[in-house]
Amino acid sequence: MKKFLIINGPNLNLLGIREPDIYGRDTLADVETKTRTMLKGKELEMEWFQSNLEGEIVAKIQTCFQGPYHALVINPAGYTHSSVAILDALKMLQIPVIEVHLTNVHKREEFRQRRITTQGAHHVIEGFGNIGYYLAIQSQLID
Ligand code: DQA
Repeated sequence: MKKFLIINGPNLNLLGIREPDIYGRDTLADVETKTRTMLKGKELEMEWFQSNLEGEIVAKIQTCFQGPYHALVINPAGYTHSSVAILDALKMLQIPVIEVHLTNVHKREEFRQRRITTQGAHHVIEGFGNIGYYLAIQSQLID
C-alpha cells in the first residue's frame, strides 16, 4: 500500500473564500474529497495536513525522513518564496517530492518568481488548479 503525505501551507485553509478569482471556489476539504474520488479504487493511502506555521510544516516534513511515506506532495504556498527551512527539510528526504501550485506562478507577480522550496522538489505541477494534487499522486503510481 503506497502512502502519500499531502502538505498545504499558509492561507490554504481559507481556500474557497480566499481570492476565489485566483484560487477557485472549492475549499481545501472539497479539494481533498475530489482528489480522493478521482483516485478511488487505487491501492493507496493519503494523509492531508495543513498549517500556517513554518515550524509545523518543517516538523511534518521530518516525519517523512525514514518514515512510512511513498512520496510527499507539498504546496508550500507563500513559503515557496521565502523558506530556507522548508527547503532544507525537503532536501533531507529520499522519497519523491512533488511541489504543487494551484496557479501558474510563472505568470504572476515578480516577487513570486523567486522560488526557494522548489529547489528541493523533484517535480513541479502548477497551473492546473485543484487537479494538481491528483496529477501529482497519479504520477507516482505509474510503474
Ligand atoms: C500558491 C502560489 C503562491 O505564490 C501563493 O503564495 C499561494 C498559493 C498556489 O497554489 O498557486 O499561497 O502556492
